[in-house]
Amino acid sequence: MSVGKAKKGTLEKAASRNAPVHDVPARANELRTAFLQYFADADHVVESSAPLVPRHDPTLMFTNAGMVPFKNVFTGQEKPPALRAASSQKCVRAGGKHNDLDNVGFTARHHTFFEMLGNFSFGDYFKEQAILLAWSFLTGTLALHPEKLLVTVYVDDDEAADLWKKISGFGDDKILRIAGSDNFWSMGDTGPCGPSSEIFYDHGSHLPGGPPGSPDENGDRFVEIWNLVFMQYDQQPDGTRVDLPHPSIDTGMGLERVAAVMQGTHDNYEIDLFKTLIAASVDLTGMPTDGAEAASHRIIADHLRASSFLIADGVLPSNEGRGYVLRRIMRRAMRLAHMLGAKDP
Ligand code: GLY
Repeated sequence: MSVGKAKKGTLEKAASRNAPVHDVPARANELRTAFLQYFADADHVVESSAPLVPRHDPTLMFTNAGMVPFKNVFTGQEKPPALRAASSQKCVRAGGKHNDLDNVGFTARHHTFFEMLGNFSFGDYFKEQAILLAWSFLTGTLALHPEKLLVTVYVDDDEAADLWKKISGFGDDKILRIAGSDNFWSMGDTGPCGPSSEIFYDHGSHLPGGPPGSPDENGDRFVEIWNLVFMQYDQQPDGTRVDLPHPSIDTGMGLERVAAVMQGTHDNYEIDLFKTLIAASVDLTGMPTDGAEAASHRIIADHLRASSFLIADGVLPSNEGRGYVLRRIMRRAMRLAHMLGAKDP
């Protein structure tokens, strides 16, 4: 469903807004609005978030990325809402191919529920404009310093590497070539997929961690904030890939991660969206957020969000499938709250 018609504008107009002469958005709500407006200005139709239970798609447990509602559009089975679209999509990654459940609470950046900001081209623009739009949003609208950014491309994607050089001015040291699944994105075992280019933010040398592709890439220092997927193939159940009817673009930027960057922290759990929930958990349990209890409060806050949005989208706790995942999420949050001292139901 479309919630806003794209305003007249051009890619170039949006891309030329490369000077921070405006108030820079920092709160999550402001960032979501700024993202959607930026892409509306570049002729994208703004779509509202689809439900967390994918429509007519038994291959997928939950909507796990912004492109999920457009899966059949990429494969040519459905007509696109427009040639370009943008959304802020509710996502759950707690089952199936993309599953972050066990990381939650123990890293600064994983969630079972999060929002994915995305822009999509359905056979319209491809690599160059996708990179240009992303670069301009980050360094223009968000006024991020290029020094704090670095990018990856799929190992043999010379075209993307050359485009990054041209658009960002980066040298080879800031355009890292990565082989394997980190730079080849797919939604699940079947469906649209393609090589990708990820944009990383460097939170600074005071944090442990190395650049993507290095042995300590999972540290907190370098965090992937935006993934640009160059959708080219449709993966078949037998593992073969056929060309999509039109090369397309699918991007995904975690709202919570970019909010952390804009709020001056590397820790998603310190952003505005989590502060009130964690404060409520502290209030109800009487336990502080430091030391051994830190992870528990984070897990409770994360799982409350996931449970609330799943139930709102029609999932109920049960013994199987989606309902069982919800039940596990609720049970873990309740058990941790109980252990922190919240004994009442
Ligand atoms: N579909 C892009 C992503 O999830 O990163």
